[in-house]
Amino acid sequence: MAAEIKNLENLQNTTYGLEKLFEEAEDFLPLLGTDYVELYVGNAKQSAHFYKTAFGFQSFAYAGLETGMKDRVSYVLKQDKIKLVLTTPLDEGGAINEHINKHGDGVKVMALWVEDARSAWEETTKRGAKSFMEPTVEKDEFGEVVRSGIYTYGETVHIFVERKNYNGTFLPGYQKWESHYNPEPVGLRYVDHIVGNVGWGEMKEWCEFYAKVLGFAQIISFTDDDISTDYTALMSKVMSNGNGRIKFPINEPAEGKKKSQIEEYLDFYKTPGVQHIAVATNDIVKTVAAMRDRGVEFLYVPDTYYDDLLERVGKIDEDVEVLKQHGILIDRDEEGYLLQLFTKPVVDRPTMFFEIIQRKGAQSFGVGNFKALFEAIEREQANRGTL
Ligand code: FE2
Repeated sequence: MAAEIKNLENLQNTTYGLEKLFEEAEDFLPLLGTDYVELYVGNAKQSAHFYKTAFGFQSFAYAGLETGMKDRVSYVLKQDKIKLVLTTPLDEGGAINEHINKHGDGVKVMALWVEDARSAWEETTKRGAKSFMEPTVEKDEFGEVVRSGIYTYGETVHIFVERKNYNGTFLPGYQKWESHYNPEPVGLRYVDHIVGNVGWGEMKEWCEFYAKVLGFAQIISFTDDDISTDYTALMSKVMSNGNGRIKFPINEPAEGKKKSQIEEYLDFYKTPGVQHIAVATNDIVKTVAAMRDRGVEFLYVPDTYYDDLLERVGKIDEDVEVLKQHGILIDRDEEGYLLQLFTKPVVDRPTMFFEIIQRKGAQSFGVGNFKALFEAIEREQANRGTL
């Protein structure tokens, strides 16, 4: 049966006991890691150029008319373990166009790498997941891939990818994408966590979905007391799979004097969906400096954030002046500290953004930064007239 949901309020002030929780998290669904993240976008060719130039992704694979794909085009970009798929339809009508029309550019698929995609589909649908794609075998001269999929919040889906019998570039139907334009990587390594925004009062339901259907355990909970400013508030719980490789925080809006950033997201995305993708780096200063140089816009952090930084987080390896120059935030927990920074939305609607994170022992999510971060988001909301 489902893993027990842990109610660990204010866990940021206690010992985590993560390993124990992970042992307890039921493992009927062994997940090897994040396989890829697919965005449905209005113009995949131009989005691919942006992610290469600004984020340092590398050309990896391509599917389209030239490879026998008649109805859509997909560019696959890679940086270390992160694979980003950008898909645009080639004709009018159909599910992808509807998705783009409703949500704007956004994440459709959070693909999970599994040993057995048939069993993953059977175990999850048996536990109540709505099927998106029955187990399907795709083949080419490099072997076969089995994929299956289920719906999660909003119109977002998880696709299970079994690729143990495949040694092609990405998936059957794709060819290697050779390009003469290959900007240097910026040091992004893997997907650390992917955050979903859900509607008023829906956080519990979706955390239960991850516990019951995918065997995840709740590792952290933040109430609106933790995550509020003078104006806006939200609540958040973090769900993790058994080996800790997959972490999905879920946010819901909370009442404040003004409009919650989660509510703004829902107004523009129209349904629950992915709010941000957090990607890890080993050297956040270098990564962020490179991304800024290439035109990525980050949330502005006021200089006063750094005034009492060392008193708050203790000794750190980095030079505070350098962190201040780049607007990098720091937070400490019992296991170490982390450095993080958030981009402004990377799409036209104020919906999806990225987080750059470097963990130095800390396994938490930067609760000490939430106030500074949300005040930064509110400044942006005020500029948009949506606060
Ligand atoms: Fe995050």
